[in-house]
Amino acid sequence: MTADARQRVALVTGAAAGIGRSITERLVADGMLVIAGDIDETGLAALRAHGGGQVITQRCDVTDEASVAALADLAADHGGLDAAVANAGKGAYGLIVEHPLETWQEIIDLCLTGVFLTVKHAGRVMNDGGSIVNIASLNAIQPSAGMAAYCTAKAGVAMLTKVAAMELGDRAIRVNTVAPGLVETAATSGFFMVPGVVEEFVENTTVGRFAQPDDIADMVSFLVGPGSTFVSAGFFSVDGGASTKRYPDLPSAFARLVGPTPS
Ligand SMILES: NC(=O)c1ccc[n+]([C@@H]2O[C@H](COP(=O)([O-])OP(=O)(O)OC[C@H]3O[C@@H](n4cnc5c(N)ncnc54)[C@H](O)[C@@H]3O)[C@@H](O)[C@H]2O)c1
Repeated sequence: MTADARQRVALVTGAAAGIGRSITERLVADGMLVIAGDIDETGLAALRAHGGGQVITQRCDVTDEASVAALADLAADHGGLDAAVANAGKGAYGLIVEHPLETWQEIIDLCLTGVFLTVKHAGRVMNDGGSIVNIASLNAIQPSAGMAAYCTAKAGVAMLTKVAAMELGDRAIRVNTVAPGLVETAATSGFFMVPGVVEEFVENTTVGRFAQPDDIADMVSFLVGPGSTFVSAGFFSVDGGASTKRYPDLPSAFARLVGPTPS
């Protein structure tokens, strides 16, 4: 088989649900074989069942270096890696003065160190000319009270992307950041339960809606595809224009939910 005829291989972390699942399905539709990692083995089995033989799953905890290395090595066994999407991540709410160190560390480990490990091991096995996409957040550039660890980790992802683009450029590997605004997934179900929060998110966009996971997958598909070979070290907001305005006032929204503190 010539190099051109070889099926392209992608790796996606946090692939079992939400944005990661949508990205996985989009890359399969684009003709790629996807090596999908997640800690949710039930979700991975469901993803595999719908993958038409084009999704290979393996349990992968992105905070565990050996686990990430094994996922990358699995991709290498299939002819090397052409694309990697460092997607696994989650937020945690808490004001800094009350924030337990363990929670801060957990979010930094998952959202920042997990991306570092994914870039490290994907970059190690990636074919020349490959593409890495790191999923950050609107919070990489727009602060939110109550989200210090998440905002800090996501801002770190944006800078990590630029450094990785410099270091991997001599192999024509491109590295870019995608920064979603509010996307309807299990991770954001809490926002949908607090009166006013989603309305504020939507009001702060310029397009008047929140996103679905496919909105993010569209951008990732472009960044790993043939139409973006001159695009590297970029930061791509997929937030409906929300970066032009301000983040919802989460402390006030949560205070309204809990009600007045008894005096
Ligand atoms: N949903 C949004 O509004 C939104 C906005 C901005 C950025 N993001 C980012 O997009 C990414 C995906 O978010 P989502 O909304 O799809 O979340 P989600 O909770 O729907 O899915 C996240 C997936 O990551 C997996 N995961 C969690 N910890 C893991 C670990 N240690 N190793 C491997 N997998 C792990 C989960 O099992 C889950 O399948 C995250 O990085 C998130 O920060 C989401």
